[in-house]
Amino acid sequence: MSPKKKEIFHCISCGATSPKTLGKCPECGQWNTYVPISQDPGDPRQPISSTDTATFFTLENLQNHEKRQRIPTQIEALDRVLGGGIVQGSVVLIGGEPGIGKSTLLLQVAHAVCQAGLKMLYASGEESPPQIGLRAERLKVETPLLFLSFETELESLRQIMQQIEPSCMVIDSIQTVYRSEVPGSAGSIPQVRESTNYLIQLAKRTHTTIFIVGHVTKEGQIAGPKFLEHLVDVVLYLEGDKNSSIRLLRSQKNRFGETQELGVFQMTFDGLREISDPSEIFIQEKTQHVPGTLIFPSMEGFRPLLLEIQALAAPSFIPVPRRIAAGIDFNRLLMLLAILEKRAQTPVASMDIFLNVTGGVKITDPACDLPIALAIASSVREKTLPERGIAFGELGLSGEVRPVANTERRIREALRRNFSPVIVSKISLEKEWQNHEKVLAVENLSEALSVLL
Ligand code: TYD
Ligand code: MG
Repeated sequence: MSPKKKEIFHCISCGATSPKTLGKCPECGQWNTYVPISQDPGDPRQPISSTDTATFFTLENLQNHEKRQRIPTQIEALDRVLGGGIVQGSVVLIGGEPGIGKSTLLLQVAHAVCQAGLKMLYASGEESPPQIGLRAERLKVETPLLFLSFETELESLRQIMQQIEPSCMVIDSIQTVYRSEVPGSAGSIPQVRESTNYLIQLAKRTHTTIFIVGHVTKEGQIAGPKFLEHLVDVVLYLEGDKNSSIRLLRSQKNRFGETQELGVFQMTFDGLREISDPSEIFIQEKTQHVPGTLIFPSMEGFRPLLLEIQALAAPSFIPVPRRIAAGIDFNRLLMLLAILEKRAQTPVASMDIFLNVTGGVKITDPACDLPIALAIASSVREKTLPERGIAFGELGLSGEVRPVANTERRIREALRRNFSPVIVSKISLEKEWQNHEKVLAVENLSEALSVLL
């Protein structure tokens, strides 16, 4: 008798396998995503048809091909973030919270593409025709080359696409489209995965650029299978504080260019406008200088963006004090608190700590350690830091201030904007800056605190 074939289960979100079904995937943390491999609708990496894989190229004709095929969007910041315009046949995922301006940005892109004499298909499953009409009126989009569709079934959309033959297409959003062959309703994990896969194949085969809008979850990730981001060519995020009109466009992944680029926009009555010199937009004039604030020259993209760090430390009334961080990684805050407590004689253990970065910016630059630690210490000790002071540097676990990339550029930008003293790491600092009257070079956090507070 042949042994019974063992069934293997795998997570349809991230692909992890297990000999038994699991409620929560230990790899990606999604719930109810385990199915037997035989029941799975298919490997997402498999092409719809194998015919288009049976071709080969030389490197030279691939390179020439790419150069020819970029379309500028006329929105300079977007072109920069994309690495020089839209690459034909690529798939770009745009994530962001609801209401942040994704549809607005894409309608502006549609306008620009049509102005360049190319056809654009905008498929919206989110909004009604009058809503899109109103937005188009507001943005002054008027062109016979823009086609709108409210179809959400992908095979029908493909047929519409076949008739129009657009250069670019927008899917607004991935959570509203579906494939009829795939089980589950639109927005479910298998549907999102299969739809993305289908669109990628479609883009490659027809040479149409597809922009996919993706909603983000509370944790700030694009909702749906994790590997959605791995499948597409470019992942962009539009972010910002909803109470302010400033929006940041960042690239998280780009198969055709740099990922460091950043576009800064302002949401105006008639659409998103680029801010060409954004360095100081997040610094507000204040009537009163209070403890717990300091400016940080963050390297966002290739230029410094000055951000204000605000910290508030207050005695806690609960057994486990609260730590709340907006704009920086929570675990990083915990590490900085431990360094303050152990290496800089700053008692934070029984304090509630609130940290905020103005403008809704999410900092990923590790140079934020020093200004954050200084801002917290300033609030704990109830003493203000220099009003036009500015600081950057990474902190080691022993409290040493480490040098970071682009030191020179950050110092120059700070001085150009009349901020001083500039508090930096002494390690490998150029002579010119070590003896500069407006630069305060320090070896460790306690030294910085003893000079400043
Ligand atoms: P929207 O693009 O619909 O956001 P998303 O697609 O990310 O959900 O933009 C929503 C907000 O932007 C809405 O509150 C209105 C505002 N808005 C402007 O301020 N100016 C404009 O020109 C447009 C079109 C929208
Ligand atoms: Mg929208």
